[in-house]
Amino acid sequence: MCGIVGCVAKEDCYGKLLSALEKLEYRGYDSAGIALLSAGGKIAVRKKKGAVANLFGAPVAGSAGIGHTRWATHGKPSDENAHPHVAGKFALVHNGIVENFAALKAELCAAGETFASETDSEVIVKLIARLYRGDFFGAVQAACERLEGAYAVAVLCEDFPDEIVCAKRRSPLIAGAGCGAAYVCSDVPALCGAAAFVCPVEDGEFVHIRGCEICFKRADGSAVPKVFCRLAEEEKGAERAAGSRMEAEIAEIPRGLSRTLGWLRACDFAPAARALRGAGRLFTVACGTAHHAALAFGNLLAREARIPVLCETASEFRYGDPLIGAGDVLVAVSQSGETADTLEAVRLARERGAYVIAVTNAEHSTLARLADLPLRTLAGAEVAVAATKSYNCQLLALYYLAAQTVFFKRAAFPAWFPALEGAAPACERAFGCFEQVADLAERLREKPAMYYIGRGTDRFTAAEGALKVREIAYLFAESCPAGELKHGTLALVEEGFPVFAVATARALAAKTANSLAEAKARGAFTALFSQEDFAGGADFSCRLPALPEALMPLVSVIPLQYFACRMCLLRGFDPDRPRNLAKSVTVE
Ligand code: F6R
Repeated sequence: MCGIVGCVAKEDCYGKLLSALEKLEYRGYDSAGIALLSAGGKIAVRKKKGAVANLFGAPVAGSAGIGHTRWATHGKPSDENAHPHVAGKFALVHNGIVENFAALKAELCAAGETFASETDSEVIVKLIARLYRGDFFGAVQAACERLEGAYAVAVLCEDFPDEIVCAKRRSPLIAGAGCGAAYVCSDVPALCGAAAFVCPVEDGEFVHIRGCEICFKRADGSAVPKVFCRLAEEEKGAERAAGSRMEAEIAEIPRGLSRTLGWLRACDFAPAARALRGAGRLFTVACGTAHHAALAFGNLLAREARIPVLCETASEFRYGDPLIGAGDVLVAVSQSGETADTLEAVRLARERGAYVIAVTNAEHSTLARLADLPLRTLAGAEVAVAATKSYNCQLLALYYLAAQTVFFKRAAFPAWFPALEGAAPACERAFGCFEQVADLAERLREKPAMYYIGRGTDRFTAAEGALKVREIAYLFAESCPAGELKHGTLALVEEGFPVFAVATARALAAKTANSLAEAKARGAFTALFSQEDFAGGADFSCRLPALPEALMPLVSVIPLQYFACRMCLLRGFDPDRPRNLAKSVTVE
């Protein structure tokens, strides 16, 4: 949801900004722009609709600069609406939404201001310019006082060469220190290879960069002491040899699982033991793919630990006045750790006294900092918009947590716990079905829609498979519990309509096969994904590597992820950058 970067560097500031922007592009790719402040005190702007690559060309001179990659909220993707926005001596980049922008814009228009864009962000830079009386930091701070909503901003001022002032509320911002360069950025991976040390900025804080000095400030201008930490190796993304990022990230699943397991083994669960042992209720909150992982966890935990688990999509959680309070545990799952809906749900749970466990792939994220127990997934930076390896790693971390909870409740680990060690090799074996799945995609490439079914935990895998296809292949794909098919959805089935079934729960497999047979009897093209060879006569059958049943979602999703990727490529789309979407959804 938009990426911002700021950099002060004597050497190649423009190149450093471009390099960070390319890595930030997964946050939005509607348009991109850069502003550089030259030693002579003049701001030069280059901005364009479309990808960051449009900014390539002769470098813009300057040793302080800001950059932006946009996911449009206010105003269509266009050169005019691209950031940076300029007013008087100032240039600004913004990530977030200014909720009171209409009122502020009306006020500024009444005072004679005119606007070059339709964005909410331009309002901020106009405010700063009007409030400026020679004090750069003071003008940014005073403007921020007038804003409602979420923002991370980085601002240049022509009177202050080599300086950037930044502010943050509810949109992510990280400061980074590298060799001869100081940075601010929306996300840590964009600083990989550039900054050696990073430090997250908290809500309400400001960052004032002067040359290579990075100063954190409160609104009154007083300094906030901070400790920077070394940028870890695993923050780097998948190395892409050939093909899409998404394919590279699927290939990284086994490695991510091994690293995640290593981290979990070393994690001290003792501080969480009291909360988990005494938990009256357990809630999960998450969005999209992460919600599917949470649903699989909730289903497993309720069965194994015999406690009520309520899984809610984060965007609904706080509006339902949830029955959460002291003594309850909330598990929040988020790859980015910055999803606005998930963070708001966590804030509500904390206010009400619940113990918060977070599962996140981003060590320095807001979610990790909000949690009582942050659990890490070490999938490595995930750049393709469609989540893949992070999902498998979330499942692993959640299963590990489920096992700990069962242990704290019953003084014994579940029987499947040791088999977590075998998850990474099993996923590696699942890659063996890719050729077969690629053929399936070829066969179905012209289909306009498809349906996914499953029972028990398999229905969450089915939901994830359908989401992947919608997201990147732009096909209508939905899922339902297999038993629900005949309660309405079966009406959709006609000759050749694809129905995919995930059937890894042995006790339910025969029933799922029946549902598939019912669809086939009505002309459906049926595909079955199972570790068992059971009779049923599906048109396509994919044999999955076996793990204990409880853990099968770790592997059964892999052919579905790959299928979506193949469908996308065959239909001529870019799996890494699906239309209308962005990786990190930092607005509600
Ligand atoms: C789907 C996808 C999204 C995210 C969702 C939550 O492939 O990527 O559905 O899962 O936006 O994002 P995080 O996990 O960062 O909170």
